[in-house]
Amino acid sequence: MTKTAGLHYDQYPALKEGYKDYFLIGTCGPLAAPRAELIGYHFNAYTPENEMKAQHVQNVKGAFTFGALNALLDNVAALGDIKLIGHTLAWHSQTPDWMWDAPALDRAAALANLNAHIDRVLGEYGSRLYSIDVVNEAIGTPHPNDWRASVNKGEGWYLALGWEWVELAFVRAARVVDKNGWSCKLYYNDFDLDSAAKAQSVFAMVRDINARYAGTRPNGKPLVEGVGMQGHYNEDTKPADVEASVRLFAALPGVRVSFTEVDLAWRNTGTLTRDQAVAQGQKYAQLFQIFKEYAAGPANTSANPKLIERVSFWGTNDGDSWKAAGLPLLFNAPGGGQIIAKEALVAALYPDEYQNGR
Ligand code: XIL
Repeated sequence: MTKTAGLHYDQYPALKEGYKDYFLIGTCGPLAAPRAELIGYHFNAYTPENEMKAQHVQNVKGAFTFGALNALLDNVAALGDIKLIGHTLAWHSQTPDWMWDAPALDRAAALANLNAHIDRVLGEYGSRLYSIDVVNEAIGTPHPNDWRASVNKGEGWYLALGWEWVELAFVRAARVVDKNGWSCKLYYNDFDLDSAAKAQSVFAMVRDINARYAGTRPNGKPLVEGVGMQGHYNEDTKPADVEASVRLFAALPGVRVSFTEVDLAWRNTGTLTRDQAVAQGQKYAQLFQIFKEYAAGPANTSANPKLIERVSFWGTNDGDSWKAAGLPLLFNAPGGGQIIAKEALVAALYPDEYQNGR
């Protein structure tokens, strides 16, 4: 083993350096000291965890509030060469109900709201973004052979617009990006995509949408350019299932995959025991082995499809995680300005050695 866990974060090679010829390495979350320095050191992509969600940028119809997001993105950009990722334009959660015109659910009114939101938010940020999650979490109970029946029928956008809501959002986002000549990639993002049935529903949806809108964008771009596998994993997650879904998405022409919100929660309420920390490291190492073997970058010399362009963690240190009780991330912050590497960081840096050395 090249390194042991437990040292300050800057005593290790930067993750972004280790993976620079494979994929981007991202994170999200607060910049409170010393996290900004940590983010600048290890990461080259950043997603606002909440600040771009509808509730934060247009809670009141027509009143766009970009102050907090502008300040955050400016502070992140000041950390160095770091790609900004948008999250998210159309979702059922953290979105005010008026957007889908609840309770009337008038189709024309809801569509006007969706379009106005996308025009304004993507219009404001699209020039600065590497990619954006246009639609988040549209699939409910999967029907692998009928993606339209798989679109979650309880979500506001569905209630107002039907299954078409997914492509309506993408069409509008593409209009904004393309008329400005921007490169911001348009992603569909969802959780549990290591479930074969759900992955098949997303696969069928993206294949169908991209086929029906083929030729509508410049330079042959597909309408949906990427699938985001959120990657909220736990100790029961099977890396082989993750790999199977990556292979499935690789059959979508011109479509990339990113792991957009990776964490690995342990059934635990206090601190990880040494054995648990190592077991978590082992699972991270297995996942990173897969990420490397399907990486889009030139360092991937495997015979596999090459499509993973970004691996982002959903946070930096465990205490700041939305799943803090599961201690799911690479670092912990014991206080006093320290951010300490867990076994998970060593595993993510050295997946081959980590699996072989223990
Ligand atoms: C979570 C944030 O991490 C929390 O701070 C917030 O309270 C709720 O949302 N899928 C997503 C993310 O796409 O936006 C969610 O983020 C986690 C699940």
